[in-house]
Amino acid sequence: MAKSYDVIVIGGGPAGYVAAIRAAQLGMTTAVVDEFVYKDGEPSLGGTCLNVGCIPSKALLDSSEQYHKVSHQLAAHGIKTGSVELDVATMIARKDKVVKDLTGGIAQLFKANKIDWLQGHGKLLEGKQVEVTPTAGKKKPQTYSAENVIIATGSKPIDIDAAPLDGDRIVNSDGALEFTEVPKRLGIIGAGVIGLEMGSVWSRLGSKVVLLEAQDDFLPAVDGRVAKAALKEFEKQGLDIRFGARVTNAKVGKNVTVHYEDKDGKQSMQLDKLIVSVGRRPNTADLFTEDSELLLDERGYINVDENCRTNLPGVFAVGDVVRGPMLAHKGSEEGVMVAELIAGKPGHVNYDTIPWVIYTHPEIAWAGKTEQQLKSAGVPFRSGTFNFGATGRARAMEETAGMVKIIAHAETDRILGVHIVGPQASELIAEAVVAMEFHGSSEDLARIIHAHPTLSEAVHEAALSVSKRAIHKA
Ligand code: FAD
Ligand code: NAI
Repeated sequence: MAKSYDVIVIGGGPAGYVAAIRAAQLGMTTAVVDEFVYKDGEPSLGGTCLNVGCIPSKALLDSSEQYHKVSHQLAAHGIKTGSVELDVATMIARKDKVVKDLTGGIAQLFKANKIDWLQGHGKLLEGKQVEVTPTAGKKKPQTYSAENVIIATGSKPIDIDAAPLDGDRIVNSDGALEFTEVPKRLGIIGAGVIGLEMGSVWSRLGSKVVLLEAQDDFLPAVDGRVAKAALKEFEKQGLDIRFGARVTNAKVGKNVTVHYEDKDGKQSMQLDKLIVSVGRRPNTADLFTEDSELLLDERGYINVDENCRTNLPGVFAVGDVVRGPMLAHKGSEEGVMVAELIAGKPGHVNYDTIPWVIYTHPEIAWAGKTEQQLKSAGVPFRSGTFNFGATGRARAMEETAGMVKIIAHAETDRILGVHIVGPQASELIAEAVVAMEFHGSSEDLARIIHAHPTLSEAVHEAALSVSKRAIHKA
């Protein structure tokens, strides 16, 4: 007889493991099937985010920022450091330790919540049965049954034929986290979120970085004014972003030779490493049998409604494998919602206030609508901006680049979007999300006391600026 659970989650990333913990908290017997194996050969919970995504990339972003600060920025504070040495092996080992500590922490949380971790590949069969093929050894597949199944199998990098990965010179984001030395010349295909974050890491450590972006626009999902300001800063830092660039061929020899075409015709360049970061696709490989009758949408994501219900009763799907932004916190909130719905409680996700952050320097963060989206939807709005350079705190920190922009409805003043490029944008955006979640107006933010001197005063002044009464703006 197959072991039975109230909930089986397939996938132990931030969508799946959070769903499992919430389900267990609500008193349900819960198991998580996960097949991820870390580079040391050990099964590891946490999915893409903890193992090869959010966490290791932020660990390297932080290390590279410290290096860059000490090498280039401390002199302005009157601090002389002499020669600064870089030890890439220690930097990577620190990143690995951060990952191991956090993924080990999830295993502990599973124990504390009595969640079974079934290590292996999960496949949905007919009638809410899940077949698990163990990751290690020659053990036979086993079948389990569940009252409810939550699919949280995440996403995988998209490959392109023009630049096949060889795992050494041409890599995806996984490989970009593992370079053993700083590549002198680094190429990146795709100037999206991963391209900019990984490009920033290696550029700060000394690589000459060229990003080849197929589109003519920079970060089209970001508010135009903020994207323009960010691009200016990145170019100042030496990131060479080439737009309208179509890679036709990348070949590995002694180096990587990349051929591409742009508005000036055929181009080529020699590189030491090439990162391919052109987006990610939902992970549904060998995930369900035909007789399970699970439906995908036209883009290959699992088809779900606003409550993450699939077409099959008692089967849900959350995270990167369903529509919506591919962000860890979006997946986690969907996981909580689904666990609560299964337990008969109300659950919801407000997709209109999901914050986005790009962890470059300066950081870019936003929530809600951009000016270009509102214009094309014909929504009347007013906006206010405020530059960090006009705040005392940013000046004291020597971090004056960037701005806050707040967009509010022209008639109701309800905040429709907040866009930040600047120091600690990733933290500052939280205030905007709270205000938007409570249907706040720019006037609400304008009347809230912000401590002085803080970076959050730029948010306050941007809100005042919507009604043209910012204090420190000429
Ligand atoms: P995943 O994290 O992909 O987890 C899915 C898990 O399911 C994996 O462990 C996988 O091995 C397992 N699995 C898949 N199929 C099966 C199967 N059939 N059986 C068993 N197990 C299976 N997002 C942010 O919000 N902030 C960031 O800073 C950020 N940085 C990122 C940096 C990089 C380099 C990358 C690549 C991504 C980053 N992301 C970031 C995106 C974030 O990682 C994803 O949105 C998030 O991991 C999605 O969570 P998930 O649980 O849906 O899927
Ligand atoms: P992306 O969608 O952010 O960017 C891909 C870029 O590649 C786009 O600008 C696209 O125009 C370009 N592109 C596509 N095909 C191309 C081609 N053939 N040649 C040249 N350019 C091409 O995808 P990315 O950077 O791979 O990241 C995937 C996802 O992972 C993100 O969308 C995000 O959801 C998530 N992520 C989130 C992070 C965060 O929250 N800070 C960090 C990293 C990833």
